[in-house]
Amino acid sequence: MATNQGQPPRQRRGRLGLAKMAALILLSLIVLVGVAVFIIWLAIHPRRLVFTVGDAFIDHYNLTRDHLDARFDFSIRAYNPNRRMSVYYDDIHVTVEYDDQDLASSVADPFFLSHKNETKLHVVPQAQDVALARRVSRNLRLERTSGVVQIKVRLQAKVRFKVGIWKSRHRKLKVYCGPVLGLFSRARTFGTSDCDVEI
Ligand SMILES: *[C@@H]1O[C@H](CO)[C@@H](O)[C@H](O)[C@H]1NC(C)=O
Ligand SMILES: *[C@@H]1O[C@H](CO)[C@@H](O)[C@H](O)[C@H]1NC(C)=O
Repeated sequence: MATNQGQPPRQRRGRLGLAKMAALILLSLIVLVGVAVFIIWLAIHPRRLVFTVGDAFIDHYNLTRDHLDARFDFSIRAYNPNRRMSVYYDDIHVTVEYDDQDLASSVADPFFLSHKNETKLHVVPQAQDVALARRVSRNLRLERTSGVVQIKVRLQAKVRFKVGIWKSRHRKLKVYCGPVLGLFSRARTFGTSDCDVEI
């Protein structure tokens, strides 16, 4: 550097050494922070929350003049595959769809899901005098005669994550499940449907 040229060599070397040292310390700090973040991320290793829905039983069914009454009875299994992260679920809304039309919805109680744990939400959304589009009504009537209707289930909630004593802020969770079989008899069940999870 031009300003250093008049100074004795020893002092110049000292200053250069100091600048080098500062740069080195700064660099090591950046690397350390990076490594720490990476290790924390590895330790938490966030994984996608898992949801499945069992068959839905439909009763109190009455489709008259394109207006629907029905009760949908099913369970949603929520599993938290994370080893260190727990989840708070708040503001949980479950909606039953058929042919892109919402038929019924209900609210589920907030719950806390610890790591590697699961819970079952039992919900019974009820359609009361719901006006259906012509096409939807016709399709539903046709499917009903076969004894099984294919519905979709949507779950929306606000979630917070907890790792140790740290808690995240609320985030929106959207879960889409389907097709889910809607049965009119409890004589036999077919299984469960997987869900897509968006956060
Ligand atoms: C079905 O709904 C219609 C219209 O609301 C009503 O008149 C009828 O009594 C209902 N039938 C049954 C079996 O509940
Ligand atoms: C799983 O959650 C239930 C309550 O929902 C709780 O009683 C149980 O202790 C939890 N299990 C583990 C391993 O955390």
